[in-house]
Amino acid sequence: MGSLMQAVVLALATTTFVLGTPLVNDLEPGQDWPPRNSVRQPSEIAESESEKVVKSPEVLEKQPTNEVQNNVEDVVVIEASKEPVNEVPPEVPQAEPLVNAQSESDSAQVKSGNLKNEVERVDYTGAQVWKVSTEKTGVKQLLRQLRRKNLIQTWAGNGTYIDVLVKPHAVENVTEALNKENIRYVIVIENLQKMIDEENPPLDENEAELQDRRGHRMNWKQYHRLEDIHGFLDYLAKTYPALVSVKTIGKSHEGRELKLLRISDGKPTNKAVFIDGGIHAREWISPATVTYFINQIAENFDVESDDIKNIDWYFLPVLNPDGYEFTHVGDRLWRKNRRSSYGVRQCSGVDLNRNFGYRWGGKGTSNNQCSEIYRGPRAFSEPESKAISDFFKSSAANFTAYLTYHSYGQYLLYPWGYDNVVPPDYKQLDALGQKMAAVIENTSGYKYTVGASSNTLYPAAGGSDDWAKAQGIKYSYTIELSDTGRYGFVLPTTYIEPVAKGSLAALRVLAAQVNKE
Ligand code: ARG
Ligand code: ZN
Repeated sequence: MGSLMQAVVLALATTTFVLGTPLVNDLEPGQDWPPRNSVRQPSEIAESESEKVVKSPEVLEKQPTNEVQNNVEDVVVIEASKEPVNEVPPEVPQAEPLVNAQSESDSAQVKSGNLKNEVERVDYTGAQVWKVSTEKTGVKQLLRQLRRKNLIQTWAGNGTYIDVLVKPHAVENVTEALNKENIRYVIVIENLQKMIDEENPPLDENEAELQDRRGHRMNWKQYHRLEDIHGFLDYLAKTYPALVSVKTIGKSHEGRELKLLRISDGKPTNKAVFIDGGIHAREWISPATVTYFINQIAENFDVESDDIKNIDWYFLPVLNPDGYEFTHVGDRLWRKNRRSSYGVRQCSGVDLNRNFGYRWGGKGTSNNQCSEIYRGPRAFSEPESKAISDFFKSSAANFTAYLTYHSYGQYLLYPWGYDNVVPPDYKQLDALGQKMAAVIENTSGYKYTVGASSNTLYPAAGGSDDWAKAQGIKYSYTIELSDTGRYGFVLPTTYIEPVAKGSLAALRVLAAQVNKE
């Protein structure tokens, strides 16, 4: 660094010190990541703030949605009754995950190889995905029975439909059951395994050769293994040492690195934005989108807008690396992390998005290890979620926004997720969410639904978004990327670029707002 620049940095630092600006971010480009020290953090003022909840008229108006949630709750309560008593009756999230408690037995049926790296894949040949209309009364009840018999799993849905995975051996039975009750449904995916096989085709030779010469193997025409993603992050840090740096903020259960990339020109006035992806293993579009952002901002920083340049960007594209790798080699539809099973039950994995330490253990969580929404034995019991918490606690950055990318359903969700309440500033969160949704639609044509998480989807406590908000990070969103169920989690690679482009447009809108704060 030239001495002139050093002088400028020093002058700036001194100015901020003299002015006593409390939320200083004195990062130097590409250099050390300063610890928090004496710098006041939003989290320090947030404790009391976060406790304030507003039961807005809007929330009350939206109450009818709960009927659906309650019905779905029933579904799981019954299922859970087979389990040791739950402190909190687990609820089944509708819009996203919820393969049922027996899901683990699917994997168990497939004999896993003796050697650790010789995992046998879960085969979805003949499994189908149906969109089932839930408008008729009694549908939920019937689906509950079918789940109990282990004939179906439930993927996602909203007030009017549920996406249901029908097991191969059950297609006939389930067809009969639904027809008998005149329940409407459409078969969305005829053969799930075929769709999985076609989702992520290899690159043609020319393209593959090209990418080998670039210094990294990343592109946005494919879903990549963890090694490619991490290689890409390291490549950027090596190529742009004054702008980009990578830090391993922890390790997963199986010892994989949790790599966090920072893009910062080191201006002391910069606000900071934290973005993560891949909390849920099977949501492949999420790491793909987050790495797309990284590529855009790192490779084009000099010509980027001031709104982008005036932010310190923190990206953690794969927060659940064990789960992510497992979806590539073992079970394409794995959701949780890979904490190994303990105790009597043979089920592994914790839902990392139920493991964060704000209102941990509340609604929409399960204490059943076999559940897809298993919250873990205590808040931050998992190295992956703990690493995030430790990082925020130690960072001096002035975080103004936290975005966590999931799929699917096309939702922009703000807190709270733990129950049907909203924070005092929810109108600002809603307004920004609406603006982001509008540009996504204009850019890519995808329509997003904006709303408070619990009201719009279902209550689910222990999410990372709630925790971030409770730390005082104002603009905290969970973004459920595309699609709305045609492919669900198994979104073909041709969608990566349009989805990521729309999301980048929304990120620019967020950056503009962050700079106005
Ligand atoms: N589909 C996400 C999940 O089930 C939604 C999370 C929304 N946030 C929340 N705190 N509930 O994890
Ligand atoms: Zn998710």
